[in-house]
Amino acid sequence: MLEALWDKRALLVSGKGGVGKTTLAASLAVAAARSGRSVLLVEMTPDEGGPSALGTLVAASDVGARVTQVRPGLRFVRLAASEGHRHFLQDTLPLHWLADAALRSRALRRFLEAGPALREMGLLYQLLALVRRTLPDGRFEYPLSIIDLPATGHALAIASLPRTVLALMPGGIIGRSVREGLDFLQDPARTAVLLASLPEPLPVSEALILASELEELGLSLAAAVLNRMPEDPFTPESHAALQRLLAAHGPHQGTRALGQLERARTARARLAAGLRVPLLTLPELPATGAELVERLADVFTPPTAGDLAREATP
Ligand SMILES: Nc1ncnc2c1ncn2[C@@H]1O[C@H](COP(=O)(O)OP(=O)(O)OP(=O)(O)O)[C@@H](O)[C@H]1O
Ligand SMILES: [Mg+2]
Repeated sequence: MLEALWDKRALLVSGKGGVGKTTLAASLAVAAARSGRSVLLVEMTPDEGGPSALGTLVAASDVGARVTQVRPGLRFVRLAASEGHRHFLQDTLPLHWLADAALRSRALRRFLEAGPALREMGLLYQLLALVRRTLPDGRFEYPLSIIDLPATGHALAIASLPRTVLALMPGGIIGRSVREGLDFLQDPARTAVLLASLPEPLPVSEALILASELEELGLSLAAAVLNRMPEDPFTPESHAALQRLLAAHGPHQGTRALGQLERARTARARLAAGLRVPLLTLPELPATGAELVERLADVFTPPTAGDLAREATP
């Protein structure tokens, strides 16, 4: 089901707070790297500093604006808004020293930081610069980027940014580079959004709203991921037997576990019915951090060219 994802240039992992975006982005990247793909894992931070959740998950030694290799096939970079401003101004103002001087002006910095659109602009601009980079032989330096988007508000702001800016500055060099950004984000052949949710009523409602907001912005949702689905150890028959037993013997801890399972199923059905994209279910696993990432990557690991060739031979 995920095969189509590996051909994209950028996968944006989005979802409400705490649903597992960072874990999911890291697991997808590890899975893709394991299968021989070259992946750039991108963390977007609208604010400066602070610990890097994604960098820690993949044990990145450097969590700055420099791209660093974390394992074969997997590189990591953390994009911060202020760096983006510098690049943006350097590229759009005629002289580099002018951009640096402009950034030294406190008034301009305040303006850049105050306008949310411009803060997000810094992030988007850097991302586009990275995905466009080519090697001397003409191939893309980062053929596949997997992006852990910041909290929903920022993600939507980044996605809606090109339109906002285009409305203000339709022409000129800024308008042109923003238009290119919009083309990239809205091209389903190059960019896909993965929407993560938890199997609970509120997160599912939020995910459905987010899905329609993304759609309105012209972003293409490729798949949804229902993360942390509780394990169901029962067959349908044993379920029925258990229900009878619990009914006869009054409230029990098991009653709660069964209720949770039932709610998770209902939530999954509602998410599947509300979206027109494939829904992948990931289990709740008794692990955290890097171990969790490796185990979830097992679920994603796409078949390698070698595997496919073996399958094809009778
Ligand atoms: N499948 C899973 N099984 C068990 N624990 C999980 C699973 N997926 C995520 N978690 C745990 O859920 C917590 C939140 O995950 P994560 O940080 O990836 O979410 P997030 O959406 O990036 O959060 P934020 O919005 O704060 O950035 C973490 O403690 C993580 O270990
Ligand atoms: Mg996160």
